[in-house]
Amino acid sequence: MTTRNEPLRAAILGATGTVGQRFVTLLAGHPWFELTAVAASERSAGKLYRDAATWIQTRPIDDAVAAMPVRTIDELMDRDFDIVFSALDASVARDVEPRFARRCLVVTNASAHRMDADVPLVVPEVNPDHLSLLSPPEDGKALPAGIVANPNCSTIGLVLALKPLADAFGFERISVVTLQAVSGAGLPGISSYQILDNVIPWISSEEEKLEIETGKILGRAAGGTIEPAEVAVSAQCNRVPVVDGHTLCISVDLKGEPAMEDVREAWRTFRAEPQERGLPSAPAQPIVYLGDDEPPQARVHRDLGHGMTTSIGRLRECPILGYRFVALSHNTLRGAAGGALLAAELAVARCGRRAA
Ligand SMILES: NC(=O)c1ccc[n+]([C@@H]2O[C@H](COP(=O)([O-])OP(=O)(O)OC[C@H]3O[C@@H](n4cnc5c(N)ncnc54)[C@H](OP(=O)(O)O)[C@@H]3O)[C@@H](O)[C@H]2O)c1
Repeated sequence: MTTRNEPLRAAILGATGTVGQRFVTLLAGHPWFELTAVAASERSAGKLYRDAATWIQTRPIDDAVAAMPVRTIDELMDRDFDIVFSALDASVARDVEPRFARRCLVVTNASAHRMDADVPLVVPEVNPDHLSLLSPPEDGKALPAGIVANPNCSTIGLVLALKPLADAFGFERISVVTLQAVSGAGLPGISSYQILDNVIPWISSEEEKLEIETGKILGRAAGGTIEPAEVAVSAQCNRVPVVDGHTLCISVDLKGEPAMEDVREAWRTFRAEPQERGLPSAPAQPIVYLGDDEPPQARVHRDLGHGMTTSIGRLRECPILGYRFVALSHNTLRGAAGGALLAAELAVARCGRRAA
């Protein structure tokens, strides 16, 4: 067992992929977590991390991680971790994650268990109380055992933009059209021949995820379960030739016909538990409203708040649903590794556990 002020022992599953590499970067020098093992497929296992990963980050690999041997998942099964970050494909995660979750906290980006009744699907600024689905840590354990899921990368930007509006006004119907970056397809991803000079107006299962996950995240935690919010979501998803950053064109039927300034104000003043607790990965502003004439643009705005801030602009009337606007969220930071890390920090803080 780790004592209260020791760093919590962490492992990354799927450490060589697009999201896994983000975890490696974000965990380097993290004040609470110490990366003690990395795992990937049989293709990578046995190699040093620097030889196994096709490194695509702008920051160099942390020296200590570069020299770590990549393990198979099975090799990690008997080792002790306080927390496991999963960046596995859903097909692999389905069986693997519950096996780790019997013994430690698993925070995952995979979709395999997102809709399980006992799995909190958490965006820390939106539904922190859903972490109450986890049982308290067992004696001798630093953290609860179980799975915490990070939502789909487009859903995260959507619910962050909508949460202040849900609190201030409420709504029943949303239409969203996404323009999603190629990094969302993982490594090796889409070939340049498929995506350059092109828009692909279809991403497998993506529209269903946006439509189902939104109700669970905006739902109410009560009696050990989540009562989903009654909200109809119509999603249309497109892959576009952008490296990082998902753009969302959103229309919503806000209740009570609020003035435009009230909508802007709801975004501008939005702060939540991660900001109040001062969590290490929490951006000072979860949402930035850029202006009525200033739309968020992937290349310009995706790194706001270290990639954790959702930028919004172009609020205007919608002749069908009332209001429409554009939001942008970084898909591999807020939408994947950064969001999962923030959820992990929230779980740690909620246990009263803050490693120095
Ligand atoms: N990319 C995004 O923007 C994004 C956003 C949100 C959520 N997600 C989700 O996050 C997960 C990871 O996505 P990604 O984009 O990082 O995928 P990726 O680039 O394809 O990486 C997949 C990782 O899983 C490992 N892996 C594959 N098969 C394995 C097996 N049988 N056993 C152990 N490890 C295995 C790979 O190792 P090798 O290198 O050895 O093959 C690699 O490390 C997916 O569930 C995805 O849906 C992705």
